[in-house]
Parts: sequence; C-alpha cells; structure tokens
Amino acid sequence: MREQLTRETTANVYLVLFSLSVLLNIFLLCQHFSFHSPSRPSSTISELSWTRRAAAEAEAVAAISCSGHGRAYVDGVLDNWRPTCECNTCYIGSDCSVLLSNCSADVDSGDPLFLEPYWMQHAAKGAVVLSGWHRMSYSTTDHFKSLELENHIRLLHAAVGNAITDGKYLVFGTGSTQLINALVYALSPENTSSPASVVATVPYYPMYKEQTELFNGRDYEWEGATAKWRNSNKTNFVEFVTSPNNPDCLLCDSVLGGSSVIYDHAYYWPHFTAIPEPADGDAMIFTVSKLSGHAGSRFGWAFIKDENVYNKVSNYLQYNSMGASRDTQSRIFNYVKVILAEIGSNADIFEFGFNKLRKRWQRLQALVNSSSRFSLQQLSPQYCTYFKKIRDPSPAYAWLKCENEEDADCAEVLMKGGIISRGGTKFGSSTQYTRLSLLKTDDNFEMLLQKFKPLVASSDENTSEISSF
Ligand SMILES: Cc1ncc(COP(=O)(O)O)c(C=O)c1O
Ligand SMILES: *[C@@H]1O[C@H](CO)[C@@H](O)[C@H](O)[C@H]1NC(C)=O
Ligand SMILES: *[C@@H]1O[C@H](CO)[C@@H](O)[C@H](O)[C@H]1NC(C)=O
Ligand SMILES: *[C@@H]1O[C@H](CO)[C@@H](O)[C@H](O)[C@H]1NC(C)=O
Ligand SMILES: *[C@@H]1O[C@H](CO)[C@@H](O)[C@H](O)[C@H]1NC(C)=O
Ligand SMILES: *[C@@H]1O[C@H](CO)[C@@H](O)[C@H](O)[C@H]1NC(C)=O
Repeated sequence: MREQLTRETTANVYLVLFSLSVLLNIFLLCQHFSFHSPSRPSSTISELSWTRRAAAEAEAVAAISCSGHGRAYVDGVLDNWRPTCECNTCYIGSDCSVLLSNCSADVDSGDPLFLEPYWMQHAAKGAVVLSGWHRMSYSTTDHFKSLELENHIRLLHAAVGNAITDGKYLVFGTGSTQLINALVYALSPENTSSPASVVATVPYYPMYKEQTELFNGRDYEWEGATAKWRNSNKTNFVEFVTSPNNPDCLLCDSVLGGSSVIYDHAYYWPHFTAIPEPADGDAMIFTVSKLSGHAGSRFGWAFIKDENVYNKVSNYLQYNSMGASRDTQSRIFNYVKVILAEIGSNADIFEFGFNKLRKRWQRLQALVNSSSRFSLQQLSPQYCTYFKKIRDPSPAYAWLKCENEEDADCAEVLMKGGIISRGGTKFGSSTQYTRLSLLKTDDNFEMLLQKFKPLVASSDENTSEISSF
C-alpha cells in the first residue's frame, strides 16, 4: 500500500515536472521567436487597424509576378492603377519574361543587388511600418541622430570585429558619399596659403577625385596619385585609403603615412573580405549600401577620433543637409537589428553574401584562367576572425587586365564583346585594365559569363594557331 502510494506520488511528480518542462519550452520558444523578430508589435493580427491597408498593399505588390527577372514596387509606374514590373537588364515584357537577343552584360556600377534575394527570402524580417506622424520633426532623439541606431551600429561592429569604435564620435551621412567631402573639408586647414593636397593610391575609387575637384578651393585641392608624392617633402596631405580597395579589393594601408588619413571601409565586411583584425583609424567611413545592400536608402556613417574634426564634420552636415533622413534611419535601424540577431544563424547575411560572391569569383576565375588573353588581380585565401577559419576570396569587383598588345583598351575590347565595364583610366590607372562589378543581380552576372566565354575562346584559337606554327 505504501509502495503503491509512493509509486503514485512519484508518477505525479514526474507528470508535474514534465508539464513544467513543456511550459518552459513553450515559453522559451516564444522568447526565441520574439527575439528574432524584434520589431514585431505585441498586439495580435486581429487587433491591427490602421496598418492593414498599407500591409495589404505592400504584400499585393510584392506578389506581382515578374518572372524572377524583375520586381514591382508600391511607387512603381502604374498601368490600370496597378504598379508595373521593373525588369532586370536584358529582360522586357509586362512580366519581364522576354530575354533580349542581343543585349550587353552591364557590369559597370557597384549596385549591390546581390543581396536582394536575401531580403526576399527573409521578407518578414525586412518589413518596416511607419505611421503618418513618424518623426515629422527636424530633431530626433539626439539632434539629427537616432540614438538606438547609433548604439546598434556600435554593437554590430563589436559583433563582426571589423572596427574599434570606443572613444570615437559617430556621424551619419546621406550615403557615405556625403561624408567623403565632409571629412576632406574637416581635415583641411582653414585660411591657409597652402591648401591641403587630397590624394589616393592608384587604382582608386573615382568619387574622391570627382567630388574633391567639384569643390576645389582655397583649403584643399585634388592632387592625384600618392605615387607622385612619395618622395616629396610636402606635408599637409589628406590621404584616402580604401580597404579593401575599390576596384582591386586588396586590403591597404596609408602610403604617405601622414596624420590626415580617411579610411574608406565601405567593403570591410565579411561578404567581401577576410577580417584579419578590427580597423582602428582616426577617421573611418562605412556604408549600409555594401553592408545590407540598401544603396537606395542613402545612409553611411563615419567614426571620428578627434573632437575638432568631429565638430567641423557636424557643422558641414548641419549646413549641407541638416542630417540624414529620419525615415531612412528608422528603416536602417531595423536592418542593423536583423543583421545582428542573425549572426551565426542560418540567416546570417555575411554567410549569404560571402557564399554568393565566392561562387561568382570562382566561376569568373575558371573562365579567365582558361586563356592567356586576360588576367585578374591576385587574391589569396586568408584567415578571417569573423568566420574563424581560412576563407577563399569573395571580392566585390574583378580588376581585369587585357594581356595582349592589340587589346590596348580593355574596356573597349569588352564593349565590342557585349560587356559594359568601367575602364581603368577612371581609377587613375591605364586602359589595359577595366573593372567588372560582381555585386549586381544574378541575371547581370550570368550574362557577363555568357558574353565572356567567346572572348576567351577566340583567343584560344589564336594561341593554338601561333603554337601550331
Ligand atoms: C569605396 C567606396 N566608398 C564609398 C562608396 C559610396 O557609397 P554610398 O554613398 O552609397 O554610401 C562606394 C560606392 O560604390 C565605394 O565603392
Ligand atoms: C578663417 O577666416 C574666416 C573669414 O575671415 C574667419 O571667420 C574664420 O574665423 C577664420 N578661421 C580660422 C580658423 O582662423
Ligand atoms: C622641398 O623640396 C624642394 C625641391 O623638391 C626644395 O626646393 C625645398 O627647399 C625643400 N623644402 C624643404 C623645407 O626641405
Ligand atoms: C586561377 O588561377 C589562379 C592563379 O594562377 C589560381 O590561384 C586560381 O586558383 C585559379 N582559379 C581557378 C578557379 O581555376
Ligand atoms: C549585337 O551586339 C554587338 C555588340 O554589342 C554588335 O556589335 C552587333 O552589331 C549586334 N548585332 C545585331 C544584329 O544587333
Ligand atoms: C587573333 O590574331 C589576329 C592576328 O594576329 C589579330 O588580328 C586578332 O585581333 C586576334 N584576335 C583575337 C580575338 O585576339
């Protein structure tokens, strides 16, 4: 009897424990999912009221079929009050299903659409809802800046390990493009008879030259390539160091070793490069364009060590635009939170970006390697502190060289073969080189390979002809 009682009590205890464990699991699962979608409101769907129409509209437009070769937008051109498909290059038709027969592969710009499928696969995570009265004011939490966005950007750098942000001021810009000139202005002396010389190492991102020349004035002037100044006794330089570099994607450091260096780390994310150590420059630029792919949102940021430089940059931003769009800041806040929350999960955006670009690079390399007509920049596998392993290269761009004397203008050779690239002279380099963007849509990349094959093949015919002599 006693035994019976004990057995029953034991069974009851187990039942209670089991129920508790089930409840705990349900609780933890709820926690888990609410953590992974931090912007989910606490109310349930049935309680939604004023967001319903907008949500229904957004989903209806997203559901318009563009055959996987285009997409429709809420603000797209209307046909019968319905937004029409906007097709990828080389595709036409109301549903983008028609492939143009003789269309050039456009791999000119660094438009980061390689990340578009990521946000389509994680549609719920990317959605942002804003009310009609959302941050109407000129001022936001901290004057022009969302404080929580600032906090999350610092958290992201710490989690990725690509920058040391402690003890540095943070500014937001309308794309990092706005911050390029803001920093040149802030690092140049005022009221001087010898203006600062703004320089970069060849091959360099053309915007530094174009923007500096636009504003060439008393305090700073574009002075071209660092190579020209390496052995000079001139001092006040503002040197751009792009690392990894656009166009050749190599990790770089200052060449002149002066005090005013602007580090452009647009591509210092695990999609594009190994992260050997956190960057720690006194002036470092980053952009959401190459992090999440939202180039259209126009959002960049810079970390600045020196208080005076920070104050000058802040003044510039005040007079130039009164700060980055508050709507944009809200949208970017969501993406930074998602990216942070998914680190190490199977929705890790860096894993996605790295895998896509590595595959593209390997396929292009295999083609280029098959002949001696072209060559690519040399990139090696390198240890990455983010992935905690030696990883293959996955560059944003191919810096292509035409090896044959008769192919003196490489961009033109490609153009004749139906590939639109960006010629070497734009980067301060020679016409022997041209840049191919590997950041665009799958359609752009597939078209690039398709057009590239005959260029490689025709050179093989020549090579075999020569060797048969
Ligand atoms: C090196 C570098 N810096 C800055 C930018 C500008 O980016 P955004 O103005 O979109 O932030 C780019 C864009 O391609 C870039 O390649
Ligand atoms: C530069 O000159 C302007 C106009 O003369 C003056 O207002 C400003 O204070 C000067 N700046 C410095 C740093 O001397
Ligand atoms: C700097 O170099 C120039 C010639 O390259 C020379 O004339 C000048 O005296 C030098 N100035 C200093 C301060 O060394
Ligand atoms: C192409 O050639 C380079 C340089 O010789 C080599 O490092 C690379 O592994 C090759 N890649 C492919 C895909 O053949
Ligand atoms: C096809 O495109 C190539 C390169 O763009 C051009 O040279 C050629 O004339 C075009 N052919 C036709 C039939 O349009
Ligand atoms: C092949 O060789 C001929 C003669 O040397 C040259 O004119 C032609 O441009 C070459 N074609 C290619 C595709 O390299």
